Amino acid sequence: MKRRKFINQASIAGLSFSGFHLLNSCETDIKNNNQTYMGGFKANPIREIKAAFVGVGDRGRIHARNFNSFQGTKIVGVSDLYEARVKETISSLKAEKSIKGYWGKDNLWIKMIEETHPDVVFISTNWDNHASMAIKSMELGSHALVEVPLANTIEDLWGIVNASEKTRKHCMMLENVNYGREELMFLNICRKGLIGELIHGEASYIHDLRGQMFQKDETSFDGYPGTGSWRTRQYAKNIGNLYPTHGLGPVAQYMSLARKEDNFMKIVSLSSPSKGRYLMAKKYFDKNHEWNNLEFKNGDINTSIIQTTYGKTIMIQWDETSPRPYTRHNLIQGTKGALAGFPTRVFFDSKENQNSIGYFPWIEGKDLLEIYEKYDHPLYQKLNKKTADSGHGGMDGIMMYRVIECLQKGEPLDQNVYEGAFWSAVTPLSAKSIDTGGNPQKFPDFTRGKWKNTEPLGIIV
Ligand SMILES: NC(=O)c1ccc[n+]([C@@H]2O[C@H](COP(=O)([O-])OP(=O)(O)OC[C@H]3O[C@@H](n4cnc5c(N)ncnc54)[C@H](O)[C@@H]3O)[C@@H](O)[C@H]2O)c1
Repeated sequence: MKRRKFINQASIAGLSFSGFHLLNSCETDIKNNNQTYMGGFKANPIREIKAAFVGVGDRGRIHARNFNSFQGTKIVGVSDLYEARVKETISSLKAEKSIKGYWGKDNLWIKMIEETHPDVVFISTNWDNHASMAIKSMELGSHALVEVPLANTIEDLWGIVNASEKTRKHCMMLENVNYGREELMFLNICRKGLIGELIHGEASYIHDLRGQMFQKDETSFDGYPGTGSWRTRQYAKNIGNLYPTHGLGPVAQYMSLARKEDNFMKIVSLSSPSKGRYLMAKKYFDKNHEWNNLEFKNGDINTSIIQTTYGKTIMIQWDETSPRPYTRHNLIQGTKGALAGFPTRVFFDSKENQNSIGYFPWIEGKDLLEIYEKYDHPLYQKLNKKTADSGHGGMDGIMMYRVIECLQKGEPLDQNVYEGAFWSAVTPLSAKSIDTGGNPQKFPDFTRGKWKNTEPLGIIV
């Protein structure tokens, strides 16, 4: 009784300023009887998929163009805060005359869904909007396809899981990195058992994004405020690993976490001092500029370690501030070998290794040719030519192909709502661990035990 009262009060307090939905939905792991487990869920096949797009900034406009390039698709609505972005996106699409545009106010995307009845809604807005938009989209009858991360609080992640289970609508976090050539090949090698039993992984998002600080006003790709206008504030507002899913998503699927073989159990986390954003603000911005008046409380480099139910470990790092070349680590260690990224490297154990104490070389560079020939994932082999120019080395197009194929055939999507929730939960859980001096934090089981019966992602041909 007390708990119910608390939930009701907290929900009211969480209403957004425009009143359209609970921003910090306080729904928890309490499940109603009318909820359906969504791992492996098959929705009705959709022959011609109608899509609407919320947010067509740097990312959303790429999704709109990629979606538009496939057969059996129809775009019905595009919304953004900026008229110019809506118009530019629509003018680049086939059948532009029948696409309705919505811009100006921050809640017109709801009107768009109500008026255009899309089968799917692509959500590519800033992180704090994802949960309320995904939940409302599903409640209005659409599958939600949400940019990374799915949400950044545990309450919002539960809100999304519960909404998906209640509405029986898919909610897939669009983790495109799982469709990269290297990641697909590593998945293939792991599934073939060639590196034995998996015991450890390393994942990261190390990407120097300091330049985004110049996007606050009118200096982004199209002269309007860009990603850095909201993302820079996140380093002051939140702590911990703020962008875990690009590195973690592939490693989690190599290990089949939340899918029968193992699951997320706990995480410990610590961060370095915070230096880079202050230095950047001081060097390039006026002392009255917003960036010189923020407390960048998040450490520049966050390092966390996850332990799984069956004892595997994953080291996961995040750094969007320090001067260093890009990496996602992408390392997976098995009992018979190891695979690593940035640059791609492969090592298979052999009798010679076991009989000697040496510094064994990786297979890398030109020597990888044979490995690619043998182990490139069938999806990559099939789609590489078509999707090469779709974005991020082709992974964006392969992801879009699979989303469309699964929806058209009525198959489960490759990433279920629980995986999006587990991968994104690293942000709030790492923050909590840091706040408690590095104490372990338990992952909520978003599947409520059903991961034990959820099939691992197979090798799709
Ligand atoms: N997977 C990837 O490779 C990848 C790459 C870049 C960005 N992203 C993710 O994509 C998302 C968007 O990032 P971005 O770089 O495109 O940001 P952006 O700032 O360029 O674009 C966000 C857009 O959302 C619009 N928007 C915000 N609130 C809105 C509302 N209430 N109604 C309608 N439109 C609204 C803004 O006007 C803006 O045009 C983020 O979650 C980011 O993490 C993913």
